[in-house]
Amino acid sequence: MADSNAKMTQATPQEVIISVVAGLFAPLLAIFLIVQLVLGIQQEHKPDTTSDAAQKAMLARIKPVAQLAALDANTPKVEKSGQEVYDAVCFSCHTPGALGAPKFENKGDWAGRLGQGYDTLIKHAIEGIRQMPARGGDGDLSDTEVARAVAYMANAAGASFKAPEAAAPAAAAGATASAKPDPAKGKAVYDANCAACHATGVAGAPKPGDKAAWSARLGQGYAGLYDNALNGIRGMPAKGGNADLPDADLANAVAYLFTEAGGKL
Ligand code: HEC
Ligand code: HEC
Repeated sequence: MADSNAKMTQATPQEVIISVVAGLFAPLLAIFLIVQLVLGIQQEHKPDTTSDAAQKAMLARIKPVAQLAALDANTPKVEKSGQEVYDAVCFSCHTPGALGAPKFENKGDWAGRLGQGYDTLIKHAIEGIRQMPARGGDGDLSDTEVARAVAYMANAAGASFKAPEAAAPAAAAGATASAKPDPAKGKAVYDANCAACHATGVAGAPKPGDKAAWSARLGQGYAGLYDNALNGIRGMPAKGGNADLPDADLANAVAYLFTEAGGKL
């Protein structure tokens, strides 16, 4: 036994080194070649993110995920404003007057219909009437959203219907917002974010306390004003142009403007 062991260890130091190096080199070479192969394949398949078509394709791929995120049950559904609903759903018929739809802002088209009253118009818009499909064909719209779109359209044709208001932002925003919007806290937010336009009346921005400029707006109530300040309306950019402004701060600033103009929270 001792004899055969002695034989096996008789390799010279050179032989040992050569066999060790050779033994290491073969797998290393294999690994190197595999890595080269993988890198080569990746190069060929690298997505082309520059072209328009490629970006569209990518958006299409991630869309289902994005939509799922949007449907997260924990996010309360934010009801659209009348204008948003109109722009998304109703305009396709009511702007061109397709199928005999009364055209937007065309008083002649709407005159006879307005006489039916807001409630009947809402009922017809929700249930559909003749060529007018129920909810404009978008079954996802809530009654409130349809009612707002009807007010938006009817008011553009001369009516003065009062659209249903949003649930108070406090209720929607959860824990932090269980408190009422605070006009006193809103003054500082206003000074920092809103005064640039509202103090001077830039582009027709109503000045704080200017009763004449606010009187027609107050009818929308605090919630309606908040909605418009949140989403933007005409010359008023969404959140005054500061997308990072927390909703609670915005609510306080709107409350400040609302109460300065004589509104009661
Ligand atoms: C597919 C086309 C189409 C779309 C989309 C559409 N409408 Fe209409 N709408 C019509 C037509 C056509 C009429 C006229 C029906 C009639 O009186 O014969 C009409 C009439 C109306 C009327 C008047 C009803 C009455 O009693 O006189 C209201 C209000 C209305 N639409 C609201 C809406 C709202 C709100 C939306 C979006 C949510 C919408 N429509 C989307 C085609 C459409
Ligand atoms: C870039 C200029 C600008 C800034 C900044 C700005 N606003 Fe306005 N805002 C306007 C204009 C212009 C109007 C009038 C829009 C109209 O009715 O045509 C307006 C209207 C409003 C209204 C009335 C909306 C309605 O429904 O009548 C409210 C409320 C309001 N702004 C709140 C705010 C608050 C709160 C801030 C700050 C967080 C702010 N705005 C910042 C330009 C601005």
